Amino acid sequence: MDLKSFEPISCTQIPRDENGICTADLYVFLPTPKKFIVFVSKGQRFSHTHRLTMEKHIVPALFVRAAGAPVLETGSAEMDNVYQVLGQGTTQTLSNIFKMLTAQGGTNSKEALVKLKKLADDIISVVAPDIEDIKAKMLQNAQYLWVMNDAAALTTLTIMFAAANEVISSQPLHDLAAACLVMDLPLVKMSQEHVLAYLTDPNTLPEEIRKEYENHPLHAYQLVKSQLKNFSDATCQLVMNHHELNNGTGFPRMLRTGGSFALLKVFAAAVNTFDILKRAQHLGTPITLQAALLHLSEPKAEAHNRRHNKDIIDKVLAYMAPTRVA
Ligand SMILES: [Fe+2]
Repeated sequence: MDLKSFEPISCTQIPRDENGICTADLYVFLPTPKKFIVFVSKGQRFSHTHRLTMEKHIVPALFVRAAGAPVLETGSAEMDNVYQVLGQGTTQTLSNIFKMLTAQGGTNSKEALVKLKKLADDIISVVAPDIEDIKAKMLQNAQYLWVMNDAAALTTLTIMFAAANEVISSQPLHDLAAACLVMDLPLVKMSQEHVLAYLTDPNTLPEEIRKEYENHPLHAYQLVKSQLKNFSDATCQLVMNHHELNNGTGFPRMLRTGGSFALLKVFAAAVNTFDILKRAQHLGTPITLQAALLHLSEPKAEAHNRRHNKDIIDKVLAYMAPTRVA
């Protein structure tokens, strides 16, 4: 995209109608792929959460397309490359993939597999395009977690955690991205309200809803095993155990992850960190990535009572220092 096609605006200049609905797409600039991505779509409200996100998490620069600049059609190559991968387009694609996989007879699983692999490659090409120089890109991209959809944000975070803990090479990169895409597919069936309620306080939910949430890793694993047979064993294990913890208080099996392979321990730490960030965001009290990590570092806890191995968390903090990442 041409830089001249966009012009910066402040939060007080957002084009809105009398009901507060945006009358144009609002963009932010993602420096690593040098692309603008849609932050709020035309027709959506610029909400209090959007404003908090701008203030707390990302470089506070909003853009609109300049007068006279050509309007990009959804589905164009440029849109597909970034908007669809990082934006809400992926959420829709994942929902469609889930429907394909759970359709009677599962006859569409081959097509779903192709779509998932392409999506994983596309996300990697945007968030971690060059593994040789991964640190600088990861640190930059981590500032933009909040403009990405959950799968892309989680992929970014997990790759950064893996790089900080030296368990990254080409194959784990793909295993992580694939796991991020499929591990929460069963949540498509649940209401967003229930998912957010679980994050903030699971005890407010009826038992059956809580159980449904806590079994989503198992259901995702079963889906992968039965339909997506080309996924690696490592990916299957990451999917099944992504909410398990070092102290055995995770779910669905309350497995103590201490004896698991290194990539899983790193992955579970990244997923848990993301949940902490999302919870704070949802409660209207967003915190920085460092604050979430310091919370997880639990210096006073006994080693076996920590949710994660302290070394893993400390290595991510050291990897990020002295950069301040929102
Ligand atoms: Fe999950």
